[in-house]
This record gives sequence, C-alpha cells and structure tokens, in this order.
Amino acid sequence: MTHTVRTPIVVLISGSGSNMVALVKASRQQQWLRRFGAEVVAVISNRPEAGGLAKACDMGVATQVVDHQQHASREAFDAALQAAISQVGGQTPLLLLAGFMRILTPNFVQAYAGRMLNIHPSLLPAFPGLNTHQRAIDMGCRFAGATVHEVTAELDHGHIWGQAVVPIVPGDDGPALAARVLSQEHRIYVDAVTAWLQAHAV
Ligand code: GRF
Repeated sequence: MTHTVRTPIVVLISGSGSNMVALVKASRQQQWLRRFGAEVVAVISNRPEAGGLAKACDMGVATQVVDHQQHASREAFDAALQAAISQVGGQTPLLLLAGFMRILTPNFVQAYAGRMLNIHPSLLPAFPGLNTHQRAIDMGCRFAGATVHEVTAELDHGHIWGQAVVPIVPGDDGPALAARVLSQEHRIYVDAVTAWLQAHAV
C-alpha cells in the first residue's frame, strides 16, 4: 500500500547535519509517512560546503543549495529560499531548522507560522543567541541543555515542543559540553517532531 505525503518535511541546514541525519532516520524507522503522511522530502543548505549535504545524498534525500552569499540582501535570500521550499514542499510544508545559521526575515517567518521548528543548544529562555555552552559554563550553571521551539519573529523564542537537561561537570569546556548536549538534541528533536505531527494529524 502506498501512502501520500500530506506533510512534506523540508530540513534546513548550514553545517554538519547530525540533527538532520537523526530526523531522516527517525522518519523512516518510526514510519512517519504511514502514521502521519509526513516525509523528509528535501534538505536545503545555505552553505555549499555544508557537510550535511553529502550525508543527505547518502541517505537518498534530495538536496539543494541556496547560497546566501549569492544574494544581495536578507530579503532576496529569503525569497529564493521560499521559492526553493515551495518547489520541493509546496505551500504548507513542515520546516525543520537543524543547525541553520541564518536569521530569517519577519515575512519569511510569517509565511511558515506554526509550521517551523528550530533546535537551540540551551535551556531557553536562558541563553538565546550564540556561544551558549561557554556562556553557561562561565555563569557557573550546573545544568545546560537544548530546546526545540517554534520559530517566531523574536530570535530563539516561540512555543517550546521539547527540552533536554544536561549536567555541566567540573572541568567542562565548551566543546565537551556541546558534544554532550548534541547527543541529546538528536533525541529531543525526533520526539518533538513526532509530537508536532501527532498534534497536527490530518
Ligand atoms: C546544534 O548544536 C544546534 O543546536 C545548533 O547547531 C548545531 C548543529 O549541529 N544550532 P548539526 O549540524 O545538527 O550537527
């Protein structure tokens, strides 16, 4: 029996794409297509050199590059990105930002309101922005973590769909803590997307 894709998932990346790999694997293992009509139809990167592109290819997922450096303004880049997304995912995809390191314009965010999730490597609302792990260590936090949230016009805000708490241990540095957090990101991103799909089941 074939299943139609009712919710095409488009994953946006900029780098190594380990969260994207976790999402594609889960999509297949957990049969999101059969259960929710949802499938990862494409991975789009704003950087041609992103390591995640080859990983997506290896898993048989279509890839595209929309290079932000080839666009004169943020608005022009977002318009090109939106065109690429529409081509592969139609008008109402689920967009998953997975290590996507671009700030999106309010118009773009509005176009996908409620249908765009991001993973952020801190326990939001603490530590929005960059360099989250070192900032948590420097503040003397005992715990760090990661958050899956809806993308809104305000950076690293929006409804929270999942979180993981990760201990900070004596002697931790930014990279060691980042690696510990990243392994939890893979788990909570999959769980959060499953929950989102369940909540939006059509
Ligand atoms: C993750 O830590 C994510 O939270 C942050 O960038 C990293 C991306 O890792 N925004 P990957 O590309 O998924 O391996």
